[in-house]
Amino acid sequence: MSKVSIIGAGAVGSSCAYCLAEKGIVNHITLLDIVAGVAEGKALDMCQAAAIQRFDTTITGVTQDYSATNHSDIVVITSGMSRKPGMHRNDLIISNVKIIREVVKKVVLGSPHAIIIVVSNPLDVLCYCAYMESQFPAHRVMGMSGLLDIARYKSFIAAALNVSTKDIQALIMGGHGNTMVPLPRYTTIGGIPIRKLMQKEQIDEIIDRTRMGGDELIQLLGTSAWYAAGASICQMIEAIVCDQRRVFPVCAFLNGEYGIQDIYLGVPVILGKNGIEKVIELELDEEDKEQFLLSEEVVRENVNIMREYLKSGNRDE
Ligand code: LAC
Repeated sequence: MSKVSIIGAGAVGSSCAYCLAEKGIVNHITLLDIVAGVAEGKALDMCQAAAIQRFDTTITGVTQDYSATNHSDIVVITSGMSRKPGMHRNDLIISNVKIIREVVKKVVLGSPHAIIIVVSNPLDVLCYCAYMESQFPAHRVMGMSGLLDIARYKSFIAAALNVSTKDIQALIMGGHGNTMVPLPRYTTIGGIPIRKLMQKEQIDEIIDRTRMGGDELIQLLGTSAWYAAGASICQMIEAIVCDQRRVFPVCAFLNGEYGIQDIYLGVPVILGKNGIEKVIELELDEEDKEQFLLSEEVVRENVNIMREYLKSGNRDE
């Protein structure tokens, strides 16, 4: 049984903690937040829910006490500013790079063998930031985005066809932003290719809505959403702690796969006890490849903004 620490007890971090606690697959969860009392309060509330929901997972909440995260097997990072209506994920680059560097520096001291799952935005850039700062091998630093994007895609398909989401298999690659690449070619419903069940126009509408899925929720909520994000992180944690070797997209470091070097992007992987056990390289048709490379370009531009900032002497401001 394992220990998971979640940095940031906001809506995403606490949804993930509760989902994980209910599953009963780890024995301890530490929630850490910068705002005094929030993590302690949410942890206490969840511990009380345990009596009704009948789980044994223990949950501790702390304010900025990183020693409570020591010896974690998995550290989830949700800290950072979240988007407000009208903001792009990239508007957060510099402010969240500063935050993630601080968090990573502190968590790796007490958990040098942990697997890090980054959730904060802009996701792909911050994964790279965590990778650089932690100096962990790349298979132990990853980001959650593909599962969330796929959850949205599947929910729209299920609603359009009036079928269960359980029977939908799908894949989305690329950056966690409006250039993500949903792949109808790799989308099936009960084994039936989506193109046999839906017109192209309808599929395109669903793809557009999926790409803007985060924005749609921000418009409604005034901040980013949390339930599906929390559940997606939880699914990744389960794959790792139970060594399930699940196949789904995560934001992973590419070292030549897909002809791409030195960047974090959403790709299908095998996820098991060592983190990313393998990046799966699959054949993309011309159009999908073009979109994937466009997504890479956008992420690379943002990584360069981070690099410039780090070089500019603001490193330790
Ligand atoms: C979203 C944010 C978490 O897609 O990026 O909802």
